[in-house]
Amino acid sequence: MSNSGSVPDRNLLIATLRDYVEQLREEGLEGLPAGARVERAAPRTETESVPRVAAPAPISSAVPPQFPPAAEMLSKYPGLETTSTLEQLRTFIGDCQRCKLAPLRKNLVFGVGDPNAELMFIGEGPGADEDQKGEPFVGRAGQLLTDIIERGMGIARSEVYICNVIKCRPPENRNPEPDEVAACEPFMLRQIEIVKPKVIVGLGTFAVQAVLKVKTPISKLRGRWHEVRGIRMMPTFHPAYLLRNPGDKRLVWADVQEVMKVLGIQIPRRGGA
Ligand code: URA
Repeated sequence: MSNSGSVPDRNLLIATLRDYVEQLREEGLEGLPAGARVERAAPRTETESVPRVAAPAPISSAVPPQFPPAAEMLSKYPGLETTSTLEQLRTFIGDCQRCKLAPLRKNLVFGVGDPNAELMFIGEGPGADEDQKGEPFVGRAGQLLTDIIERGMGIARSEVYICNVIKCRPPENRNPEPDEVAACEPFMLRQIEIVKPKVIVGLGTFAVQAVLKVKTPISKLRGRWHEVRGIRMMPTFHPAYLLRNPGDKRLVWADVQEVMKVLGIQIPRRGGA
C-alpha cells in the first residue's frame, strides 16, 4: 500500500523543505524573483554556439521580514523624510551629536559625487584619512576604489556617488557598534532614496550586512544580485580587503562586470584594477 501523503511523510517533507530554505537563506538567498520558473532548455546540439553574454542574473530579494519599513526607519528623526536633496539632508544632519562617535571626529564624512548618479558605492565608515579630509574613500583603500571605478569601469569618480553606512570615524578603526549604526543608518537610507541610483555596490562585510540586514559572510553574498528598497545591489569585497588579498581582485572584477552589464557600460577585453 502506498503511504504517499501520510501525515508522517508530509511532516518529514515539510521539515526537509524548511531546512533547505533555511540553508538558502544563510547563503544569502532571501526569496525567489516573482514569477520565477524553471525553463527546461532543449538539449544543445553540437553545432550550436554558447551565448557569449549570460542573461542578467535574477535578483534575490534581500529585504527579509525584519527589515524595518523605510518610513519606520526615517521616523526616528522627524522631518528627515521631508529632505529631498542631498544639501537638505546634510543640513538636517548638522553638527550631529546623535551617537558617541561625535566627540571623537574631526569631520563628519557625509558623501561625495553626483547626486543623480546611476551607480552608488556604500562602504563601512570613515578611516583616519577620510576623517581628516571629510570625504569618503580617500586613503589607500579609496585609491584602489578610485582605480576600480576609473581604470576598471572607465567612468570618472565624480560620476558616481560614494558614501558610508556611518558618517563618523570609529576609534582605532574598530567596527561600528550597533547603537552607532542605528543612529546613522537612517541617513544612508535617505541618501539612497534621494540619489535613487540604478545600482548599488556594497563594499565589504560590514556595509553589506548592515544594508541587507543579514549575517551571511560577504564571500557568500558577493557576485549575486540582491535588492534593497527596490534597487539592485551587488555586494563585493572591500578595497581594504583587496589590499591584503590582491588575489581576490579577479572576483571583484567579475562583480564589477555584472554591474557594468546592467548599466550598459562596455566591458573592455582586459581590465580590472
Ligand atoms: N573604508 C570605508 O569603508 N569607507 C571609507 O570611507 C574609507 C575606508
